Amino acid sequence: MCRDILTIDYQGNVYDCDFNLADKRKIKGYEEKKFWEIDLDTFHAEVSLAEYCYACTADTGSSCHGSLVKEKGKTALPDQDRKRTPAQAGADFDVKESVRQYYGEELTETGDLKTNACCTIDAIPAQVKAALPLIHDEIKMKYYGCGNTIPEYIQGLSILDMGCGTGRDSYVMAYLAGEQGFVYGIDMTESQIRVAQRYVGEQAARFGYARPNAKFIHDEMENLHKHLTPGSIDLVTSNCVINLVEDKEQVLKEIYRVLKNGGEFYFSDVYADRRVPEEVRKNRILYGECLGGALYQNDFERIVRSIGFADPRVVSKQVIDIQNEDIKALAGNITFTSVTYRLWKLDGLEDACEDYGHVAVYKGGIPESPFTLRLDDGHVFERNKPERVCGNTALMLSKTRLRDFFHVTGSFDEHFGLFTDCGTAAGEPPKADSGGGGACC
Ligand SMILES: C[S@@+](CC[C@H](N)C(=O)[O-])C[C@H]1O[C@@H](n2cnc3c(N)ncnc32)[C@H](O)[C@@H]1O
Repeated sequence: MCRDILTIDYQGNVYDCDFNLADKRKIKGYEEKKFWEIDLDTFHAEVSLAEYCYACTADTGSSCHGSLVKEKGKTALPDQDRKRTPAQAGADFDVKESVRQYYGEELTETGDLKTNACCTIDAIPAQVKAALPLIHDEIKMKYYGCGNTIPEYIQGLSILDMGCGTGRDSYVMAYLAGEQGFVYGIDMTESQIRVAQRYVGEQAARFGYARPNAKFIHDEMENLHKHLTPGSIDLVTSNCVINLVEDKEQVLKEIYRVLKNGGEFYFSDVYADRRVPEEVRKNRILYGECLGGALYQNDFERIVRSIGFADPRVVSKQVIDIQNEDIKALAGNITFTSVTYRLWKLDGLEDACEDYGHVAVYKGGIPESPFTLRLDDGHVFERNKPERVCGNTALMLSKTRLRDFFHVTGSFDEHFGLFTDCGTAAGEPPKADSGGGGACC
C-alpha cells in the first residue's frame, strides 16, 4: 500500500492508498500533479496520515508500518539526542563509530532520513535516468546522496566514488563509462559496501558487458593510499560524504594525490554559513544527517586551495529545508546548503581569474550536452558561440577531458589584469553571494 504502491484515480490524481483516495487526501506535495507529470525516479513523498491509518491492516498486517517509519523523520528525537551542550551531547563522541552505526544500523532505507540534507537536489540528468532502471533495487533502496555527482562525458574514464555506500552512483557511472572505463568505490560501513560488492557480476551482465568494470573496497577513505596509486584516476566523485569525515583535510589530500593532472573531483556535499558550534557538531543525529560535520563553506575553500585545487567552482547549490522541529531547534540560526563542486587538479591554475585575452568556443559533441555545456554556475557555453574566458577557465577547457569539445584561442604571453565581472583578487576571500564558491561566478 502506501509503502511501495501508488493509488491513482480515473483523472490521474495520486494517493497513498485507497483509503486516502476515498477521503480525497492526495499525496503531500503532489496535490496539483497528475500521475504522468511525476518523475518516479525522484519521487519522494511523506505519506499523508489520517486517524484510520493507525488501524490499517493492509500489506503486512501491521498498522501502516510504512507511514509510521516515514513519519519518524518528523517526530521528536530521543531525549539524549535533543541535548544542547557538548557535554550532554557526548564529549567522547566517536565520529567513525557513530557514522558506521548510523548508516549501518539506524537507517534501513532512504525514507528513514530525518532531513532532506542527504536527498538529491539536482534534477537527474537524462543519461543517469536512463541508467537507473538497470540498477538492482537493493542498491537503490539505500541511496543517501545529496546531489548529482555524475558529470557529463565520462566514457572510458577511471573513476573513484568516495563513500560509495551501496554503490548506486558507482554503478550508474560504470554503465556510462562503458567497458573501457572502470569504477572503484570505497566505503567503511560493512553492510553498505557488501550490498555494492554482491552485484558486481550481475550488474555487468545487466549492462551487457563482457566483464565487470567495478570494484568495491571495504575500508576508510583515509586509507586510500593502500589501494590506489598516485595519479591513477581521471575522475573522483563523492555524494554527501566529506562532511562525515573527521579529518577532512587528510581525505581531500588523498583525493588530490590519486588524481591525474587534468583530473577532476566532482562532488556534492553539505556546507554551513558559519562555523558549526560544538554542541551541533557532537550531536550524533545531526552528524549522521550530514549537518553536524558540515564545514563553513569559506573554510572548505581555504582548505582545498591550500591542497592545490586552486580554483574551486560551484556547479549548483540549494538551501536545505529542515522540517524536523527538534533538528531545527538544535541547528539554530545556521543555514545549511547542499553544494555541487567541480575541483580540477591542473598545473598552471592561479588563485584568481586573470585576463590573458582567451576565447573559448564549445564545438558540441558531448552526447548529453548537444547544445549547451555547463562548466559551473558562472559558465554555460552555447555551441559555436565564442566567449571570453579567464586563464583558469581556458586551462579547464583545453587541458582536461573537455579539450576535444572546445576550441580555445589565446596564450599566456600578455596579461590584461584581473578578469573583470568574475574575478576574485588574489588573497581576497571568495565572493559571499557565490556561496563562497569559485573565482569565476
Ligand atoms: C550519506 S552516505 C552516502 C552514500 C552514497 N554516496 C550514496 O549516495 O548513497 C555517506 C557514506 O559515507 C561513508 N563514510 C563516511 N565516512 C567515511 C570514511 N571515513 N571512510 C569511508 N566511508 C565513509 C558512510 O559509510 C556512508 O555509506
